Amino acid sequence: MEFLKIGDRSLLYPIIQGGMGVGISLSSLAAHVAGNGGMGIISTAQIGFREDDFYKNPIVANLRAIKTELQKARDLAVQVFENSFKVSEQAAGFIDKLKNYKPFIGFNIMVATNKYADYVIEAVKAGADIIISGAGLPVDLPELVQKAQEISDNEKRTCIAPIVSGRKSAKVILKMWDRKYKTTADAIVIEGPLAGGHLGFSYDELHELGADTMASRNYKREKYDAEIKEIIEEVRIYEEKFGKKIPVFVAGGIYTREDIAHVISLGADGVQMGTRFVTTYECDAPDDYKQTYINAKEEDIVITKSPVGMPGRAIRNDFMDRLKSGPIPIRHCHNCLSHSICDRKTIPYCITDALCSAANSDENHALLFCGSNAYRATGLEYVKDIMHELTEDMK
Ligand SMILES: Cc1cc2nc3c(=O)[nH]c(=O)nc-3n(C[C@H](O)[C@H](O)[C@H](O)COP(=O)(O)O)c2cc1C
Repeated sequence: MEFLKIGDRSLLYPIIQGGMGVGISLSSLAAHVAGNGGMGIISTAQIGFREDDFYKNPIVANLRAIKTELQKARDLAVQVFENSFKVSEQAAGFIDKLKNYKPFIGFNIMVATNKYADYVIEAVKAGADIIISGAGLPVDLPELVQKAQEISDNEKRTCIAPIVSGRKSAKVILKMWDRKYKTTADAIVIEGPLAGGHLGFSYDELHELGADTMASRNYKREKYDAEIKEIIEEVRIYEEKFGKKIPVFVAGGIYTREDIAHVISLGADGVQMGTRFVTTYECDAPDDYKQTYINAKEEDIVITKSPVGMPGRAIRNDFMDRLKSGPIPIRHCHNCLSHSICDRKTIPYCITDALCSAANSDENHALLFCGSNAYRATGLEYVKDIMHELTEDMK
C-alpha cells in the first residue's frame, strides 16, 4: 500500500469526505475520517453558526470558528488515528509506515461565499492541509493561498483543489491558473450529477443524464463516465506540463467499494463521498437530520431551486412543499453569499436560514441537502467501519 501524494503531503486512503455545510461536516466528522486514513474536510459554510455573535456578526464568527474547528479536528484526529491503527494494522506490517503519518484535514470553501478571500486566508493561516473550492470557479485561489502562506508560519504549503463538473470548467480553471500564476492544482474533484447539495448542472442537464428523479433507475452512467474520462484527459495535460501527479477524485453517488472500483477503472485516483458519511455516529449533523436520511425513500429525494442560482438535491419535506406556494420572506440577511449571486428581492427563501434550521433540528423550516443515495442508509454506522469496508482491498 503506497500513500497517495497530494502536493507535498501524503494520504493513506484515496477517500475524501466531502465538505458539507451548514454544520454537517465540522471537526468531529472530519477528524474521524482523517484519523481513519481518509481526508477529512470541514465546510466553512456558516461554520460559526453556533457562536454567540453569529446573528450580529456572521463573518467574524465564521472566521473565528475556522481556527477553532481545525484545531479541534487535529487534536481529535490524532487520538482516533492512534486508536484505529495501533492494534488492527500491526499484524499487517503497517505500523512502521504509519509512524510519521499525519491525518489529512482541510476545508471546503465555496467560491460563491461572501468574503471568499478572507475565508481562504484564514484557513491557510490556521494551517489547513488543503482547500477544496467549488460552487463557482476558484480563479484567484493560488494567489490568495500564496499571500496567506507568506504571512503564516506553516511548515508546509496548503494544497489547492478545484471542484469541476465537466471538461469545459476543468479546462478553464487549469488554463487560467497556468497562464496567470504559472501553477496548477494539487488535486481535482469531479463532482457529478448524483451529488448532494448544490449541483454544477442545469435542470435540463440533470434531466438528460437521468439524474433528476429516481436516479437508481434512470441515471445514464455511461454518459457521465465519458465526461469523467474527458476531464481526466484534460488533467493529464497539466500533469505532464508541470511534471507532477494531480490526483483526480470523483464525487457524486459513490457509496460502496464497487462504486470506488468503477471510477478507478475510468482512470480516477480516488473518490469524494458525502452522503454515506452523514449517517454516521460521528457526523456533526443532529440526530433527527440523520434519521430523516434513514427514513427517506428514493422518491423523497428531489431537485430543488436554491438562492445560489444552482439546482440542489434535498429530501422533500413540509418546508419544500410550502415553497411551491411562493417565496418565504427574508427577515434578516446573514451576508453569506456575494450579492451579485443572491438578490434578496428575488430569492425564493434564505439559504442560511434554511440550512441553519436543518443543523438546529428545526425541521419545519429546514432544507435537508442530500445525495441521490441518501435513501440507502438503514441505520447509523461508525466511520471506522465504513472506512474498513471501503478500503479492504487497498491494503
Ligand atoms: C448535506 C450536504 C451538504 C453539502 N454541502 C456542501 C458544501 O457546503 N460545499 C460543497 O462544495 N459541497 C457540498 N456538498 C457536496 C459534498 O461535498 C459531496 O461532494 C457530495 O455530496 C458527493 O456526493 P454524495 O453525497 O453522493 O457522496 C454537500 C453535500 C451534502 C450531502
